[in-house]
Amino acid sequence: MTRIYLSLQSVCGSRRWSICNTAVPPSVGRFTYLEKRRCVMTNSNLSDYADPVVYDAENNQFEPAGPTLLKMAQQVTGPVLDLGCGTGLMSIPLAKQGIDMVSMDAVPEMLAHGKKKAGDLPIRWVEGDVRNFQLDQKFELIYSTGAVFQHLLTRAEHEACLACVQEHLVENGRFIFDLAFPHPKWLGNVEAEEEWFSYTTPDERDVRVSGFQEYDPIRQVKMETAVRRWTDATGIEMTKKAPLSLRYFYPQEIEALMHYNGFLNTSFFGDWQLTPLTAESTMILVLAKKEMT
Ligand SMILES: C[S@@+](CC[C@H](N)C(=O)[O-])C[C@H]1O[C@@H](n2cnc3c(N)ncnc32)[C@H](O)[C@@H]1O
Repeated sequence: MTRIYLSLQSVCGSRRWSICNTAVPPSVGRFTYLEKRRCVMTNSNLSDYADPVVYDAENNQFEPAGPTLLKMAQQVTGPVLDLGCGTGLMSIPLAKQGIDMVSMDAVPEMLAHGKKKAGDLPIRWVEGDVRNFQLDQKFELIYSTGAVFQHLLTRAEHEACLACVQEHLVENGRFIFDLAFPHPKWLGNVEAEEEWFSYTTPDERDVRVSGFQEYDPIRQVKMETAVRRWTDATGIEMTKKAPLSLRYFYPQEIEALMHYNGFLNTSFFGDWQLTPLTAESTMILVLAKKEMT
């Protein structure tokens, strides 16, 4: 997933550009249990999330999404739902500010790592699929950061996710999520592997990341492959490849999707500081309200 940050700096923060000897917060808690929720749909688009330590080394900034989410979370009563929470990049700092969090992700390793970092913070960690979940709670605010919605590739999946969000929002509850802007310059084919970035993990691996990509303009899906290389303790060169497919959306398409799936007043912004969406924006931030029944 980190490869999406190459073109999605403002969706995910400029995390990949500031990486250098990044330290993962120390383990402060106990991993006890994770709830499992109706995780019955297959998902082959998660291989980039197999190593949460690598994820945290590559993605470590609460800004720019965090402060806006904190402000929104402080305006609601009750818990806030983080869909596709990963290792808790947003959930943990929000919980530290006293926000009661419910944090869901499909990858148990990501959740386990987040839970370990979070210790006793008020976070309910749920292993679940954003396309098919059932919690026994409703929320005034549901959010998703890091282009999670783009990991869903078909309309059926988008509608399934929006139906679950609807089901878990109170009347007039709000859903906010980010997407990468579909700039043509990011949607071509890159056949030859190109260097992306490098960093050192807390366990002292010097990791070099490169990648290549292919874009399918009919499905509006970009298929990227990140290649991570490092030398292990015995001097052997290690290589790991992780493919990731991301669906790209155009603003009017999202407006229609939200409208036909029970959301009102969909607004678009160009970043998490809520500046207007323009042709130069690098992201599309979508904010919508659940329609009154
Ligand atoms: C780019 S990461 C973002 C993580 C976190 N929101 C952040 O900002 O750091 C995408 C996350 O979405 C999760 N994800 C992707 N598809 C999912 C699905 N269908 N259900 C639940 N989680 C999913 C991945 O496991 C991964 O942790």
